[in-house]
Amino acid sequence: MRMKKLERTILIIFGSTGDLSRRKLLPALFRLEKSGLLPDGFRILAISRRGTTVDDIISIICATVPEASGETVVLESLGKRMSILDMDIGKPQQYGRLSEALSDLEKEAGNAMNHLFYLAIPATLFETVTGRLGEPDINRHEPGMRECRFLIEKPFGFSLDSARQLIDSLGARFDQSQIYRIDHYLAKETAQNILAFRFENPLFCGTWNREHISHIMITAIESIGIEGRAAFYDSMGAMRDLVQSHLLQLLALVTMRQPRTFSDTDIHREKEYILSRVRPPRIERMNDDTVRAQYRGYRNEAGNPASMTETYTAVRLSIDDEAWKDVPIFIRTGKALAQKVTEVTIVFSNPCNPSRNNLLTIRIQPNEGIVIDLRIKKPGFYMAYEDVQLDFCYTGTAIADHPEAYERVLVDGMRGDRTLFASDAEVLSCWKITEPILEAWKNPDFPLHFYDKGSWGPQAADQLVEKSGIPWLTDEHPVCTPPRIVHHD
Ligand code: BG6
Repeated sequence: MRMKKLERTILIIFGSTGDLSRRKLLPALFRLEKSGLLPDGFRILAISRRGTTVDDIISIICATVPEASGETVVLESLGKRMSILDMDIGKPQQYGRLSEALSDLEKEAGNAMNHLFYLAIPATLFETVTGRLGEPDINRHEPGMRECRFLIEKPFGFSLDSARQLIDSLGARFDQSQIYRIDHYLAKETAQNILAFRFENPLFCGTWNREHISHIMITAIESIGIEGRAAFYDSMGAMRDLVQSHLLQLLALVTMRQPRTFSDTDIHREKEYILSRVRPPRIERMNDDTVRAQYRGYRNEAGNPASMTETYTAVRLSIDDEAWKDVPIFIRTGKALAQKVTEVTIVFSNPCNPSRNNLLTIRIQPNEGIVIDLRIKKPGFYMAYEDVQLDFCYTGTAIADHPEAYERVLVDGMRGDRTLFASDAEVLSCWKITEPILEAWKNPDFPLHFYDKGSWGPQAADQLVEKSGIPWLTDEHPVCTPPRIVHHD
């Protein structure tokens, strides 16, 4: 299918030199420019109050994307699209300048353009910024003529109540169709592949339920620590930072019913349904079914010697739905661990031999792909087995060069496709799942475990899954790396 031509757009970046912009947004803009996907009339207006210049932004790109420095033509072209507006986003009276700058860019282009606002701003400024952006001199939304869309970075609130307030206040200022809540995990190529894989392959479509699946395990671990984001991270922790958003979204993709079509509305309807059925552990099980832990040295890095913030969490969830009754869902995430890996493992049970499972691993990153562990007969004169992997790996294939998540986020924002963004109802359901856990952790007696940097996390997390007979997968279980054969003589 050919991609619809992208419309002329002004991308307005709030937080242009912040962490997310450096790590994700600016590299994505560089790659879109390089692949020739940015339309001629595309302009970037970066808001800054630090005297930042276009050259500074280009230097940030060069520092983050290793091959960028050698791509002078691409960088020049990107630089020409960019202008900087020096403005304090916390001062409502300065927004008149933003309104003028937008008018000037349209005058230069000779026609109306879509306005795509990218908001990666501290929670403390959210009300002020969105309040001012919602006023008519800036929110000049005229569907079909000049669409104003708002790409909003998480966190979507800090709790269920604050998320509700955010949703209400955005709802009072903007039309629903203007709001794009970014969950960049949804825009990862392999995450999108989950639905295609499940529903386009009869072999799996008919077996994707409690009759055949005994466990689901979702892992998103990182080797990096908090990387200078102490102020943000110490108030968030792993549960709010990753579970409430990315991991529950992955869970929704893995367990949702088949949508009628792959349209925005149908996909959101099914995700909303399944997320509304996900249950946290019952209060009396919180100690057994949730683990929170912190890496040693974190308190120093965070500058908070008494910090109880979890940099790691593992939880057991369930789904109150006929298809998933009694299927435990294990989720783990953490920072400063042995590897960077995000993957979903589906454990297929075996009615012929209960001690033997088939693992199906959907590797979201790195080494993207899908791998099934199979046991087969070892060729020879007697009955011995060997374990092999049946794999589809992106690495080394022509499609290995797929768009990065933020490229997709930007392209979808430009073409007005909200399918891969999180809806209000999804966000609220995710808070309803995580909030009881966070409440239980407020109890001063609730254990906070510790683990070493570079390890696979605390022992308590191993114990959490061991009770169900399935260990977490570690580097003993390589995926989409050169095949390994284990002999059973
Ligand atoms: C962000 C979190 O949403 O996702 C970060 O705030 C985390 O803490 C990041 O590092 C991970 O994203 P990715 O794409 O690198 O896996």
